[in-house]
Amino acid sequence: ADIEKGTYPHFMLKEIDEQPFVMRNIISKYKDDFDKIKLDEDIRRAVMGADRIYIVAAGTSYHAGLVGKQMIENIAEIPVETHIASEFLYNMPLVSENPLFIFLSQSGETADSRGVLVNVKEKGFKTLTVTNVPGSTLSREADFTLHTFAGPEIAVASTKAYTAQMAVLAILAVDTANARGKEMSFNPLQELAIVANAMEVLTDQKEKLEQVARDFLSVTRNAFFIGRAADYYVCLEGALKLKEISYIQAEGFAGGELKHGTIALIEEGTPVIGLATQEHVNLSIRGNMKETVARGASPCMISMEGLDDEGDAVVLPKVHTHLAPLVSVIPMQLIAYYAALHRECDVDKPRNLAKSVTVE
Ligand code: G6P
Repeated sequence: ADIEKGTYPHFMLKEIDEQPFVMRNIISKYKDDFDKIKLDEDIRRAVMGADRIYIVAAGTSYHAGLVGKQMIENIAEIPVETHIASEFLYNMPLVSENPLFIFLSQSGETADSRGVLVNVKEKGFKTLTVTNVPGSTLSREADFTLHTFAGPEIAVASTKAYTAQMAVLAILAVDTANARGKEMSFNPLQELAIVANAMEVLTDQKEKLEQVARDFLSVTRNAFFIGRAADYYVCLEGALKLKEISYIQAEGFAGGELKHGTIALIEEGTPVIGLATQEHVNLSIRGNMKETVARGASPCMISMEGLDDEGDAVVLPKVHTHLAPLVSVIPMQLIAYYAALHRECDVDKPRNLAKSVTVE
């Protein structure tokens, strides 16, 4: 059946709003009768047997892969490298003895990712595709598939597929940790339910986020997103969302790298969006924000409850640190949406972009 927008003006807004439901859907699909993680035994074995994981992806999926690397390394303690699909074959890493290749792809059709899949399969390496489209090329050609259960994503700018990918990777990470006999205090199925509620709180703040977009992004030519640790990866995604649909030149930076070049671009009124969801980087990112303000920047701080300060533009409801990226991206998606709307851009079909790039 054709997917309808219903009462929504754009698919993108609809898909942003669907994220809490997607989380609950993922929980139900990955839960067994005893409220434990349900996962294919062969996949479990493949991940367990890997001495190193290589995540390969493009665009927004690549950004999910960066977060996934952190999750798997921190939770399951398996080394992970995340690679841009189109670069992988030019910059082939020295592959470990028992690698597992994970292809992250909403569509399962991205040619750059497929190019890598074909190459590593020839070498006899194990492959797993994490995708929203189980019958897709990458899914059919890999040894294993994990479904992200986000439902069809129509808007070119990816939203719910990104959070769904990270949710599935978190479940995979914990499952692997469990299988390796690690004591886990972190139950991803419970924590994702808390994430779903937090997402709902944020998608209910549309008016406020529209105002943030109006205040910070209505006339600017450029914008910067800064964060550290996992927040940095979400900043890359926040900047990509804004570029894709509003055509504002936006870049995500690691807070500490600002002073090594990018700060030269800060002028009177340049919007700088700061993100702090991780306690160990809260003070340093706030320090970076001050450095930009001293050079004229308009600061827009997004922080997590408990780390918030007076004057922060958006305060995110508290969720587990590992899952903070699933929540902190929501206001960025909405801010990008409203910025594009105010600029009268074609939100669902931005110029020059395709939903899925099937040429190399
Ligand atoms: C295109 C889309 C992006 C997407 C990327 C990877 O460039 O415009 O939104 O992130 O492809 O797509 P995939 O389907 O492999 O996740």
